Parts: sequence; structure tokens; C-alpha cells
Amino acid sequence: MSQPAILTHDLRKAYGPVQALRGIDLTVPEGTILGLLGPNGAGKTTAVRILATLLVPDAGHASVAGHDVVQEPDVVRSLIGLTGQYAAVDENLTGRENLELVGRLLHLDRRDVRARGEELLREFDLVDAAGRPVRTYSGGMRRRLDLAASLVGRPAVLFLDEPTTGLDPRSRVGLWEVIERLVADGTTILLTTQYLEEADRLADRIAVIDGGQVIAEGTSDELKDRLGEDVVEIRIADTARGPEAAELLRPLAAVEPRLDREHGRISVPVHHGAGTLAEVVRRIDGAGLEVAELSLHRPSLDDVFLTLTGRRAEADPDDTTSSPAPRRRRFGRPDRRIAA
Ligand SMILES: Nc1ncnc2c1ncn2[C@@H]1O[C@H](COP(=O)(O)OP(=O)(O)O)[C@@H](O)[C@H]1O
Ligand SMILES: [Mg+2]
Repeated sequence: MSQPAILTHDLRKAYGPVQALRGIDLTVPEGTILGLLGPNGAGKTTAVRILATLLVPDAGHASVAGHDVVQEPDVVRSLIGLTGQYAAVDENLTGRENLELVGRLLHLDRRDVRARGEELLREFDLVDAAGRPVRTYSGGMRRRLDLAASLVGRPAVLFLDEPTTGLDPRSRVGLWEVIERLVADGTTILLTTQYLEEADRLADRIAVIDGGQVIAEGTSDELKDRLGEDVVEIRIADTARGPEAAELLRPLAAVEPRLDREHGRISVPVHHGAGTLAEVVRRIDGAGLEVAELSLHRPSLDDVFLTLTGRRAEADPDDTTSSPAPRRRRFGRPDRRIAA
């Protein structure tokens, strides 16, 4: 049978004149992660809020484990957990008290809640801080506690709305590991993110969303394949012979190779990178040229997004907590260093 854990069809939502969702179709099989990837304002949170029964769609359908979010909101709520970009924990309670509060709201057995709370505190590396008020926590600790709070009821389906936005790189990697463990345990996750590398690392499939529409969908590899090209980069030891080498490689290139004369560096876009690499080496060798460096690059998801939308995404103006380091890793990645 195996119906999708999350399903949306032609989902639409407007806020007054703002069309936030213009017909979104999503399918998330049980036990997988869908990365909903898009810039600020794309409609990610709107989609999540509808799926979490916090917002009613104008049109279309959304269901969780086969239960319609509008018709059966209570059932849906009993199946899901939600973590947002802004941690929803109580500042004045301790970490442990926050988890117990959630358990009480869910009407779970008091003893079970205590045991579950301790288990989550351990798992999220919060044992030492468990007795301290949350206002003393760092951003990363709050985010971990918020995620822990969403897991008290052992939800089968988890919505993570930009769970790592604003976190420093180390906290981000820590959260990634937690998320990977959850999926390994069978949880289905819809994760929204503005970070390409995050979707690349965590998601089984990625839906790229922009302007309230899904503009591309597939695995990370499929999306990269839509770009069609790998790039072989080679540096010739004898820079003076760069033009000669570029000429030799031209027949292998999907489009015109680029030569950086000063450094003897040639980048060759090719259709089948791995297959072409050996032929590149044969040709260079055959001409008695010495290879100083050789590498093969797959297009990044940044490249894919650029190709799909023709632009890079803007930074998130709401994201005041963001440290500069992660911000650089957004869509606005520097150009590839081909003509260094
Ligand atoms: N409560 C609201 N009232 C009016 N406009 C809103 C509201 N919430 C979101 N929007 C607008 O809807 C669009 C989608 O927003 P959102 O779903 O929050 O996108 P994302 O989460 O991808 O940043 C944006 O143009 C945003 O400004
Ligand atoms: Mg959002």
C-alpha cells in the first residue's frame, strides 16, 4: 500500500494580493527527506504551515499519512512535529521543564514524559544545560532543544522549517547528524532550507521552489544533470604551451574550453566527466605535455539554481541572527574559480 507520508496537490494560498503558493505538488515517501529549497519569500513556510494545520489553503489538497489537513486536522496533529526557524521554547523555563511541558500538552503519561525527556536531552547533548533557563542557551542549543521538543511525542512526520538558518557551521553540522539519525529511525521529514549544501547532504529528493511554484524536482544528482555538464580542469606545467593543450582538448569539449594563459589552466566542460577524464590525460600525454593539476567538478546546486532562475537568491532580511560565515554559503556562492 505505502501511501506517501506527505502529499500536496495544486496547493494555493494568497495573503491579500500576495500569491504565496501558486499550485504546489509535493510527494514525500515514508522514511525519506524532501528538501524544499528556495530563497526567502519563496513560499516554504506557507507550505509547511498548511501541512502542519496552522493555515488553511485557498485551494488544492494536502495530506499527511493519507489524512487531509483540512478535514482531519486533529489526526494530522497527532502524527506530526514542527520546528521553526525561530525556536518556540519558553525562555524562562529550563530545558528539562520545556520538554516536560510539551509532554503535558500532549497528554502523555508523566513518567513516560520524564524518561523521554532525559533520552532527548542526552541525544541532543543538552544534559549539562538541562537545569538552566533557556535564556542562557546559545542559538545552537535553543535550536536543538526546539527540535527535541518537537520529538517528545515521537512524530512519524517532522516538518523542519529552516532548522539551521542562523546557526554557526559547527552547530549546523551537529543538527545535520541528528536529522540523519531521525531518518535512519524511519521518520519522514520535510526540511525547508536556503542552503544548497544542506539539501545536497540531507535530502533524498529536492523540490526547488521559487515564487510559490516548484520550478524543479528530483534527486540532487538529477538536478545537477539538468545542467548537463561536468567541468574537467587541467593545468599544464609549461604555461607557454597552454594554447596548444587547449587546442588538443577542444574536440572533447561540450562547449568551447576556456584557457587561462597566465597559469596554463584550461577548463573543459564535458558531457560525461568521468569517461572523458582518461581521454584528456591521453591527449595531453601524447603531446609530451606535463600535467601539473587535474580535477573534475560536478555542477553544484548553486549552478542548478542559477540555471533554473537566472539569478542568485537574495539574503534573508529577517535573518538577523545569521553569522556571516553561513550566509556566504547561501545561493550567493562565489563563481567557480575557473579563470582564477
Ligand atoms: N502573514 C502574511 N501576510 C502577508 N504576506 C505574507 C504573510 N506570510 C508570508 N507572506 C508573503 O508570502 C510569501 C511567501 O512567504 P513564506 O511562505 O514565508 O516564504 P519563505 O518561507 O520561503 O521565506 C512572501 O512574499 C511573504 O512576504
Ligand atoms: Mg520561511
